[in-house]
Amino acid sequence: MTDEKRTATLTFDDTTLELPMYSPSAGPDVIDIRRLYADGKVFTYDPGFTSTASCDSTITYIDGDKGELLYRGYPIDQLAESSHYTEVCYILLYGELPTPEQLKIFEQKITKHTMVHDQMQHLFRGFRRDAHPMAIMCGVVGALSAFYHDSTDISDPDQREIASIRMIAKVPTIAAMAYKYSVGQPFVQPRNDLDYASNFLRMCFAVPAEDYVVNPILAKAMDRIFTLHADHEQNASTSTVRLAGSSGANPFACIAAGIACLWGPAHGGANQACLEMLREIGTVDRIPEYVARAKDKSDPFRLMGFGHRVYKNFDPRAKVMKESADEVLELMGIENNETLKIAKELERIALEDEYFVSKKLYPNVDFYSGIILDAMGFPTSMFTPVFALSRTVGWISQWQEMLGDPQSKIGRPRQLYQGATSRDYVDIAKR
Ligand code: SDX
Repeated sequence: MTDEKRTATLTFDDTTLELPMYSPSAGPDVIDIRRLYADGKVFTYDPGFTSTASCDSTITYIDGDKGELLYRGYPIDQLAESSHYTEVCYILLYGELPTPEQLKIFEQKITKHTMVHDQMQHLFRGFRRDAHPMAIMCGVVGALSAFYHDSTDISDPDQREIASIRMIAKVPTIAAMAYKYSVGQPFVQPRNDLDYASNFLRMCFAVPAEDYVVNPILAKAMDRIFTLHADHEQNASTSTVRLAGSSGANPFACIAAGIACLWGPAHGGANQACLEMLREIGTVDRIPEYVARAKDKSDPFRLMGFGHRVYKNFDPRAKVMKESADEVLELMGIENNETLKIAKELERIALEDEYFVSKKLYPNVDFYSGIILDAMGFPTSMFTPVFALSRTVGWISQWQEMLGDPQSKIGRPRQLYQGATSRDYVDIAKR
């Protein structure tokens, strides 16, 4: 924030307030309203936080009009093309590109923490086999605080660091265990000679009865999906993690809260909902029927994978995902995949339709990701766990930034109260 003395004048009734304004390094200027209630005895009102900055941050920046996404200033398309997920984790966590030595040490740390405590396998046995993997992830990730007492003191920077490494390292193992449990196959231990994405694919798809050889093109596509989902400013689940962390809750509990929020179909659950929608549409000739429903205010149906609070242009992640979908499906020999055909035709029709054009609704990150994950062999129930796995580094980075911010305090919004004012209780005999 620049410290120039710019102010916004707010006048109402017989009150005039001068509110400080700050200019960010990118994005809209902000008006600091922290003294508004103390000096003006009024609240602002912004359900859904459409015009509210909840914090200042240096991690991720989105320009919704340009369709730009930067991780620590680096454009997402460059990172998706030239970097890889564990390097992106380093960049998000520490803010700079690592030297070769720094990256090697960081990746060794992650590798050494991919196993989970052996007793954790008993937690899975408590779930029904048909439990949604996100329900299992919420429970098991939250339970990590019961196993790793030596990294729950958030006032200790060393404990915060080891908790961060453990979360990033173990969440793929937990997600893979949730999948294996749901299909009744034995858990597969991580291997230290595999990269992050290859390890995850092997833990999901290897079986004891035969050797599993990771397909390098699928591993590259998996790694790219992880990179594209790694962080995204103050989205609903990141804001949940920050709010949970603001009370001093331990990191594992905060990440479990983020997983719970991400599960919603308006957020990370949209990738599952989008593929299910494309399958329900079934054929290209039924697309107009669904586009009409999406436009019908009396119909709660929305085009899943379309629209975004911030992007009013193409989501840059959707562009990369669309290219990746073509590559993976061609590799899998299913380039004439009916679902992909419907997705591309739906995108074409919607982007020519006045309703979507006027509301600036474009495909978002969830529109194509499900098609790739489906082609890789994941059931739709594993789509959001993959998103949660990828976003863990973003949640952890934002949590670390919040705890390192001297201005940070417990989050406690106020309200516009519309309920009954004070009234006396009436005994039931007199009602
Ligand atoms: C993610 O915040 C993030 O950064 C999230 C995310 C991340 O990486 O963390 O990017 C990941 O969650 C992506 C979004 C995934 N969700 C979906 O694909 C679900 C479908 N999309 C919508 O539910 C909606 O677009 C949201 C939730 C994504 C955004 O909702 P907003 O910003 O609150 O916008 P809105 O609901 O006010 O919509 C504005 C208008 C409305 O019409 P009007 O009331 O103005 O007449 O656009 C319409 C909406 O009805 N609209 C849609 C639509 N999305 C918005 N109409 C039909 N289909 C849609 N998908």
